[in-house]
Amino acid sequence: MKIHYTTELTGIDWQRINELIELVGWPERDLKDMVLAFEKSGYLRIAYDEDKIVGIGRSVDDGKYYGMIVDLIVDPAYQGCGIGSEMLSQLRKEMDGYYNVCLTATQSKQEFYQNRGWKKSKAAFHWSQNKSNSDQ
Ligand SMILES: CC(C)(COP(=O)(O)OP(=O)(O)OC[C@H]1O[C@@H](n2cnc3c(N)ncnc32)[C@H](O)[C@@H]1OP(=O)(O)O)[C@@H](O)C(=O)NCCC(=O)NCCS
Repeated sequence: MKIHYTTELTGIDWQRINELIELVGWPERDLKDMVLAFEKSGYLRIAYDEDKIVGIGRSVDDGKYYGMIVDLIVDPAYQGCGIGSEMLSQLRKEMDGYYNVCLTATQSKQEFYQNRGWKKSKAAFHWSQNKSNSDQ
């Protein structure tokens, strides 16, 4: 298995992105809304096994000071092979020098981030409008 990573949205299979979202148990998204949201990403990573999308990750950021990593997802059949770590690391490096890069993590994913050097913040507040994120 040789995974390659791109930053390219052109020609992307949006149905497959929604399938990944569904595979990890997140709520399905409206395709039109998702395209608009992804086009506004600061940085993007898409992991492919040949021509099959097996992972995604992106940032929402201002290009200089603040960034947030969102939608880090790996197809369950490909988890545990280092793909999530690689995308996380690539996205974080894109934002080297920013004042702050943050993300939210469900309870079960806290160790994943802590094991990769991310520090849990005591100062963050968030206004969650999504019931499925209420434990974050
Ligand atoms: C979180 C998520 C993106 C991690 O992706 P992943 O590709 O499985 O992550 P990795 O393979 O890099 O690391 C996961 C584990 O696999 C193991 N691993 C990493 N690289 C490996 C390799 N080359 N070979 C074997 N095992 C490896 C590690 O032990 C790691 O566990 P650790 O956190 O205890 O160190 C994935 O679990 C996912 O999509 N979850 C559902 C969506 C989600 O919750 N996203 C995060 C939002 S909070």
